[in-house]
Amino acid sequence: MKFNIIATESQKANAYALFFVKKSVQFSTILSENGKKQVESVLNGMKDGPFEDLEFLEIDGKPTFFVDAAKERGLSALDHLRMAAYRLAGRAMKKQVPSVSIFLADAADEQFKAILHGLSYADYKFDAYKSKQEKNFQVTYEIVAGEHVKDFKKIAEDVAVEQKAVTLARNLINTCASDLYPAEFVQNAKTIAKYTPGLSIKVRDMKQLEKEGFMGHVTVGKGSSHEPYMITLSYDGTKGAKRTSKDHLVFVGKGLTFDTGGLCLKPPKSMPEMISDMSGAATVLAAIQAIATLKLPIHVSAVCCLAENAIGNKSVLPGDIFKAKNGKTVMVDNTDAEGRLVLSDGLAEAGEIGATHIVDLATLTGAMVRALGYAIAGFFSNDDDLGLKVINCGEACCEKFWSMPLEEEYADALKDKFADLKNTGTDAGAISAALFLQEFVPENTAWAHCDIAGTAFVSKKWKYTEYGATGFGVQTLIELAREIATPIDEA
Ligand code: BES
Ligand code: ZN
Ligand code: ZN
Repeated sequence: MKFNIIATESQKANAYALFFVKKSVQFSTILSENGKKQVESVLNGMKDGPFEDLEFLEIDGKPTFFVDAAKERGLSALDHLRMAAYRLAGRAMKKQVPSVSIFLADAADEQFKAILHGLSYADYKFDAYKSKQEKNFQVTYEIVAGEHVKDFKKIAEDVAVEQKAVTLARNLINTCASDLYPAEFVQNAKTIAKYTPGLSIKVRDMKQLEKEGFMGHVTVGKGSSHEPYMITLSYDGTKGAKRTSKDHLVFVGKGLTFDTGGLCLKPPKSMPEMISDMSGAATVLAAIQAIATLKLPIHVSAVCCLAENAIGNKSVLPGDIFKAKNGKTVMVDNTDAEGRLVLSDGLAEAGEIGATHIVDLATLTGAMVRALGYAIAGFFSNDDDLGLKVINCGEACCEKFWSMPLEEEYADALKDKFADLKNTGTDAGAISAALFLQEFVPENTAWAHCDIAGTAFVSKKWKYTEYGATGFGVQTLIELAREIATPIDEA
């Protein structure tokens, strides 16, 4: 896919794309009076959408796509523009149209960005394991941006960086667990750090983790033939920048390259999807890569908590007790509640490197999937301001987050008879997991925990993603860095 963004209209493209909402065409400045009449009569003849069958007509002597941008149930205005652009790109590829002119006369920056994202999503395909790889048909989009779009070159560059990050996360998540084990994830992260100026990386292997008391990783990872690792990536964009905030934003990602459940084995039906149990780690890696590439004026780090929850003769036994990095002792009541154990180390590491804000992402609980499904991620926060930022930044990039309570009343259920804590709690599974994590949040630190168990990986087509990883969260984290990077008085 290629974008050519041009300021003035041209007749060169092979086809037109007209976006319309509720039967009125929004972007038809290039059409002749006669062409407009033709469009009107086509639209008047339509029943209520969707209008897939009227996709490709001759208007003013040019093949023309009618792109239905009318509101779809549950989607925001920006998201239905993304959807419309995604559908257009799918049809243009199928019809093998080399170039399409898109008219954006009425669109401002936000809409323009949404359309570019929608077009880009259509280009994603994960066929690494197919015996034959077929390239997508390459369509060039000639985009006629009107006067409302202020800085289209910058927006197009930003979208390219963001989409590259989304693709990186999706590819890592979709890769089989036998090909992407912790050490292999580390190799990927090292390569990314090497080719991203300003991005540093620190890697701890099992020996180092044990030496420093990061026992959550060791407890979960020791049963596997693939040893656990912790990665800390850092980028400081405040050096040399004029007026930036003093904040240090730290992302923490759950990185279970596979989760069998351990000795508390999962049922076979729900197991294959556990290749996505490292979505949090992939998301934070992709986000920091994009933030560094965009040179945002902020200090950001990303901690990836990598392990494989497997069965072996060294696997943690139910009832075992270990001492976490912050000194609290934990009884492993259920070996399948492993994410919170590695995250206890991630949160400790965030504290050690001086986080002022921590945002963790984790495919943490099945309970979250049952509560909010695949379209909404739940988040828990000890800081209203950070929580609001997560919601607003999510909304700006069409990712939905719903605020969940850190209900103190349920905290008692985490207490163990022998140890300070156990890793299971009440039937409110997502809340119990969040309350467990809260025990490891460094003092005086704003923290938000996002449970992306439902949104990270979909079992059927959803919006602009097919079966598999969605890349959910990458854009919100980038947006959050943009938001926190902006000093209050300049916001
Ligand atoms: N990785 C799972 C959670 C999950 C479930 C992610 C479905 C994506 C889709 C997690 O490690 C887990 O197994 N959690 C248990 C915790 C329970 C044993 C307390 C769960 O939610 O059932
Ligand atoms: Zn588990
Ligand atoms: Zn898990």
